[in-house]
Amino acid sequence: MNERTLIVYKSVTGFTKQYAQWIAEALHCEAVDLKEASSKKMSDYHIIIFGGRFHAGFVDGLKKAKTLFGESTAEKLIVFGTGATARTETDMIREAWKNNFTPEELSRIPHFYMESGLRQEKMPLGDKLMLKVFAAMVKSKKEKTAYEEAMAQALGESYDHSSKEQIQPLVEWVLQEEQAHS
Ligand SMILES: Cc1cc2nc3c(=O)[nH]c(=O)nc-3n(C[C@H](O)[C@H](O)[C@H](O)COP(=O)(O)O)c2cc1C
Repeated sequence: MNERTLIVYKSVTGFTKQYAQWIAEALHCEAVDLKEASSKKMSDYHIIIFGGRFHAGFVDGLKKAKTLFGESTAEKLIVFGTGATARTETDMIREAWKNNFTPEELSRIPHFYMESGLRQEKMPLGDKLMLKVFAAMVKSKKEKTAYEEAMAQALGESYDHSSKEQIQPLVEWVLQEEQAHS
């Protein structure tokens, strides 16, 4: 068991939890729900990996995770965000990260995007409504981005574009970091 690294995740419909579990298997480390995480728990580890879903541009739970990490003695924070945006939309994803980090954090905190999908059957009502409003807004726009088009089309539908190989860049980053400190 890897005693240096802890994964903390927040997941509503299961995609982020699945990614957290894949990463936990690859790194042989523990994955805990943000609800069960504390700065005391984080202090037992060197590296904290936080994962959350993109939600209207913001990584859900990241603010809390950053606070807990800041209060802990853990040394390195790494973040992954899951989302419905196609992973080929690299410019959009780069812009989205800017909502979540200060310029200083952007260069200091390694961050990775993993494409997921939408799981309507597990989505709270509020989220379904948000998607409806979003789709209505997109409909009235003349020029739509590929993401807007895809989200509006996927309204009411579920799909899964997640895949295990998407964890690889993060896993390699962590293995190198662990090696450097061993
Ligand atoms: C209301 C709402 C807003 C969303 N906003 C975004 C977004 O801004 N960018 C994105 O890529 N995906 C967005 N998504 C898709 C989710 O990020 C995606 O379904 C996520 O992987 C769900 O994670 P979970 O299954 O761990 O809860 C949104 C989904 C909902 C329901």
